[in-house]
Amino acid sequence: MQKKRENWGSKIGLILAMAGNAIGLGNFWRFPYQAAKNGGGAFMVPYILALIVIGIPLMLVEWMMGRLGGKHGHGTIGYMIYIQARDKIKPRKALIIGSISGMLVIAVTLLVNSYYNHIIGWTLGYSILSITGGYADKSISTGQFFVNYIQNPAYVFTFWIVTLAFLAFAVTRGIQKGIEAWAKLMMPVLYIFGIIMIFKALTIGSPAKPDWSAIKGLNYLWEPRWSDLNFKATLAAAGQIFFTLSLGMGIIQNYASFLKKDDDIVNSALATVSLNEFAEVILGGSIAIPITYAFMGVKGLGAGVGLAFISLPNIFRVIGGGRIFGTLWFLLLFFAGFTSAIAMYNYLVTVLEEGVGIAKKTASILVFFGYIIVGLPVCLEPIITHTADLAYLTELDNWVGSYLLVIMGLIEIIVTGWLMKENPIDEMNEGSYWKAPKWIYTIMIRWITPLVIITILIGSTIDYVKDGYFRLIPGFVTKTPVLIPWVEGARIVLLIVFILGFIGTYLGIKKSYKQEIEQNRVIVKM
Ligand code: PHE
Repeated sequence: MQKKRENWGSKIGLILAMAGNAIGLGNFWRFPYQAAKNGGGAFMVPYILALIVIGIPLMLVEWMMGRLGGKHGHGTIGYMIYIQARDKIKPRKALIIGSISGMLVIAVTLLVNSYYNHIIGWTLGYSILSITGGYADKSISTGQFFVNYIQNPAYVFTFWIVTLAFLAFAVTRGIQKGIEAWAKLMMPVLYIFGIIMIFKALTIGSPAKPDWSAIKGLNYLWEPRWSDLNFKATLAAAGQIFFTLSLGMGIIQNYASFLKKDDDIVNSALATVSLNEFAEVILGGSIAIPITYAFMGVKGLGAGVGLAFISLPNIFRVIGGGRIFGTLWFLLLFFAGFTSAIAMYNYLVTVLEEGVGIAKKTASILVFFGYIIVGLPVCLEPIITHTADLAYLTELDNWVGSYLLVIMGLIEIIVTGWLMKENPIDEMNEGSYWKAPKWIYTIMIRWITPLVIITILIGSTIDYVKDGYFRLIPGFVTKTPVLIPWVEGARIVLLIVFILGFIGTYLGIKKSYKQEIEQNRVIVKM
């Protein structure tokens, strides 16, 4: 029944691909503004705690789930959850949890990537504008320049389609020749660019005011300010851990499903976390924040989402070699984003290949058009409404880029901690050079991690209610009625994807495990 699955070509290729999966715009664009928005040092304390309590255990679990799924010939979440849960709760109930999980992950990989691909497109556009001096003209602010950019169809469409075409090409070439080859090229370059940018950042001095400097910017991030610690920053920090490590998205499992049966897990999962955290707190934390602090002080850090696309270009305009550094910065973002987007793209291709039986090339083309359809509103909204609020993107991001990840993480950890027949630690340790200790299972995976995730979920839900996200017309668009249809549109898209995702996963699992679901007992063993 199973055809031979693809495998990673080399250990280094696998690690770089996984690092590429995790290291993304989350590290260089999202992390600095989240940290800045949530009080710098006050954010870093819960961030590090969340890394230990949620990030590391969940990363181990996802690698384990993935390799186990791969052994059964599966690279997608619906099946993985099904085979893990079916012993304890019987195949029919496992089918339901599997279908819900498959649905959530299809929504994440389709919809997160639908706007993420646009942002990658912007970074490509801005790389070219940096080198050609496209935003050098000081008569227009970089804020206004950005607004003009996203309202300019020639820019947004060109770079978006180019990005998607590159992605389609890379994924069609397969695991070794596509994903692995690109990661091997892009990841080392990314680290080199990052290190060059840090040198620039830290040698910038105090160009604007004597008490603003890059070092003060670093201090802002690294001085733990216990008094500013609060629940909101904690939620943001936990959300960032999910996003940056690609947890709850299904894409770590998908990559891990291409491992060989006894490939190392523990060491490799920890390597992924380490490489990602280096790229996040060292590279991501030492570029945008210090540079902005040196030029604009603490206030400059309030730019939020605009830190990468508005504040930094403003500085590239004035520093020596600004065109070069601007280009390096945006290419770095591009490489980071691209190697993550490949993972989401590949997930959907795997769904079509393994769940529906479509050939890789056709599947890639279908996914390409899928992304065009669901991503179209992202670029049409600013053009049609002449706004720059990106309400469609924001609405999607609030749900699929934040909330659903936590729900998915919770399902995974409960299924692994409580419903799996095999001991997950034994499964993890098989073939692993370092062995994970038993308490990772008995204490973390069963108790602490799920309880912390539940707390985070409750906290986020309360916040979402307060911010009016659950209302028919969510809080952030009440003042701009033109945007209401875009938000409602996002919800309709999400609903349709949920329905199709659920039905598709349900039928897929049912077909593959027909007999055992009919008889409601486990038949297909390893
Ligand atoms: N970990 C990725 C990041 O930091 C998350 C991601 C993966 C987002 C793939 C989108 C697509 O950006």
